[in-house]
Amino acid sequence: MEILTIATQAFSDQRPGTSGLRKKVSVFQAPHYLENFVQSIYDTRTDLAGGTLVLGGDGRYYNRQAVQIIIRMAAANGVARIIVGQGGLLSTPAASGIIRKHGTNGGIILSASHNPGGPDGDFGIKFNTPNGGPAPEGVTEAIFARTREITEYRTLASKDIDLDTIATLSLGNTRVEVIDPVADYAALMEQLFDFKRIHRLFDSGLFRMHFDAMHAITGPYARRILEEMLGAEPGTVINGIPSEDFGGGHPDPNLVHAHEVVALTSGRNAVDFAAASDGDGDRNMILGRDFFVTPSDSLAVMAANAHHIKGYSGGINGVARSMPTSQAVDRVAEALGIDCFETPTGWKFFGNLLDAKRITLCGEESFGTGSDHVREKDGLWAVLFWLNLLAVRKQSVKEIVQEHWRRFGRNFYTRYDYEGIDTEAANGLMAHLQARLPDLPEATLDGYTVDYADNFAYTDPVDGSVSKNQGIRIGFTDGSRIVYRLSGTGTAGATLRVYLEAFEPDREKQDQETAAVMQPLVEIATDMAEIETRTGRKQPTVIT
Ligand code: G1P
Ligand code: ZN
Repeated sequence: MEILTIATQAFSDQRPGTSGLRKKVSVFQAPHYLENFVQSIYDTRTDLAGGTLVLGGDGRYYNRQAVQIIIRMAAANGVARIIVGQGGLLSTPAASGIIRKHGTNGGIILSASHNPGGPDGDFGIKFNTPNGGPAPEGVTEAIFARTREITEYRTLASKDIDLDTIATLSLGNTRVEVIDPVADYAALMEQLFDFKRIHRLFDSGLFRMHFDAMHAITGPYARRILEEMLGAEPGTVINGIPSEDFGGGHPDPNLVHAHEVVALTSGRNAVDFAAASDGDGDRNMILGRDFFVTPSDSLAVMAANAHHIKGYSGGINGVARSMPTSQAVDRVAEALGIDCFETPTGWKFFGNLLDAKRITLCGEESFGTGSDHVREKDGLWAVLFWLNLLAVRKQSVKEIVQEHWRRFGRNFYTRYDYEGIDTEAANGLMAHLQARLPDLPEATLDGYTVDYADNFAYTDPVDGSVSKNQGIRIGFTDGSRIVYRLSGTGTAGATLRVYLEAFEPDREKQDQETAAVMQPLVEIATDMAEIETRTGRKQPTVIT
């Protein structure tokens, strides 16, 4: 088959962010834009020539076309074998698992995660290394450097291949295996969790749940695993058919965007358990009857209960959380006598710790939890972990979490997001905070005494690499914290995130409303950063 070499010009804006390269669909559709980035991956990851590539995406608009482009270019660049999910689909955690299981040279995942889809929405692409994890900064920077100097790319003069039938095809000298996107993942889940026990929980007729796939990738995964393998009632999975624009919604599993499933957890017919996942299946939200589990608490509860779960019954090596995630898991680690690492935001920072077996569980406040079974966060995994725990402990979600607070103390938590603000204003605000840092330690703000104030930097304990400028942290002597950082995943303007945490050891005070508890810290945080005057925003766009 004829290999075409196409002349191109470099784009200057192809530096991957927190999680790959994300842009508006229209940007990716511009001539050569996707191709340049993909060729830069093939040029940098030279072992892909003659090697195996995993490929799939979350099914959003442009997924199909992009998969065909990437396959043709893979063949023209000498990739020997491509493993692609049927329909061009793979959830992010499933892709990570497949990259690992089949001993491949890495994978390309097409997703903009929880960002809206459709022709006017977002698209994204990222490269995951052979350990199954998002490429570390050294790799993304090398790909970015290549995008700056690229002058041509290679592709094949060939028609689209049939992505919809499970089969092995050949394209030039390349073998293309179109696989069932769910099978390997479901098998992995069956190794980790006690499926029989969960099945009995559903069979008892005393337990009902809903899972909201938000019209995104986890629909087929959740239906197969929850309804077909575990015996949950048909209809347990809602919004289970993936659509290119996620039904016009915003596939982010939080109290705002997943309100449909939240509503099913209250009222007379409320279910006992509910959950949701995001566009590409790596995030999760956990709910009980009339009860929301913060992601930070979810991680802490998992760590404290891991011994109840088959795949973790031998004990956990250690835990890690991203810096803005609440310190709830730190207390569990202390009680268990295991290490707890604080890493910058973004899953890629967990990879080395997992590979080196320094940690087993990790998570982020942004609705991400996961373990060493793959190298991405994993939404459905978290749901199965909770289901398994509910089946073992025979208590409600609320009882389990409240008992946890009584034992370890409660870390109240909230996050304020100011989306789409002016980039210069956002940078100015961060510079203003940075300038205030030296004066803050020991200062008293509305009765809170500052313990430390810094711009978070992280030294990876495994490879010694240093990541600076990862967010402003202000810690108070009573364990409360305020954290500020700018998002690295947005595609328009800047997003300021303000993370707030308050620690409450007193059992009598642990059942208060979060909003009331956090109010004083919210005021300190908004005043200190001069949010209203600098951004013109009186209120955040989203509170989670
Ligand atoms: C956000 C989350 C972060 C997560 C990332 C990818 O990044 O805050 O925890 O790892 O999405 O899902 P941000 O936009 O804050 O850079
Ligand atoms: Zn995601």
